[in-house]
Amino acid sequence: LLKRSKRDKIVLVGLMGAGKSCVGRRLATRSGLAFLDADSEIETAAGCSIPEIFARDGEEAFRAGERRVITRLLKNPEPAVIATGGGAYMNPETRAEIRRHALAVWLRAELDVLVRRTAKRDNRPLLKNSNPRQVLAELIETRYPVYAEADITVESREGPIDTTVDDVIAAL
Ligand code: S3P
Repeated sequence: LLKRSKRDKIVLVGLMGAGKSCVGRRLATRSGLAFLDADSEIETAAGCSIPEIFARDGEEAFRAGERRVITRLLKNPEPAVIATGGGAYMNPETRAEIRRHALAVWLRAELDVLVRRTAKRDNRPLLKNSNPRQVLAELIETRYPVYAEADITVESREGPIDTTVDDVIAAL
């Protein structure tokens, strides 16, 4: 799968609602790779949920934990697909590390798609107590230029997940 690259991991980056976890899990199954979800790993390491980490320790502590977990996942010798939380790629050191060990795939999605997909679950502290559309629009402004540094960009449209997975595989 990763023949074009000496790197043996695929890291999915992109905003909340881009489909990183769903696409990542399916991509891993279809390509016979392990699947790792950075957000879940952070929750396991902390022993509580991401909203709880934000509420109890604050965003800065969450970002420090996120950084440690991604370093650990990238050092794991097993080839894998790794889904990251939307903010992970914004850290320059994390970004450099991802570039060294993995092929970064940006799942790009339109604002409307992100708004619809994130409305379904209430597990995102950045979208709580605010207008999700406005927050997501601001994050598009600040983060899309950085996500655009990924090795590959794939549009995450509404519809069957396998279509997006097909597009990722075709782009590798
Ligand atoms: C965040 C995205 C979330 C999670 C945390 C912060 C972000 O992950 O890491 O709530 O800063 O964009 P998902 O992108 O998987 O929702």
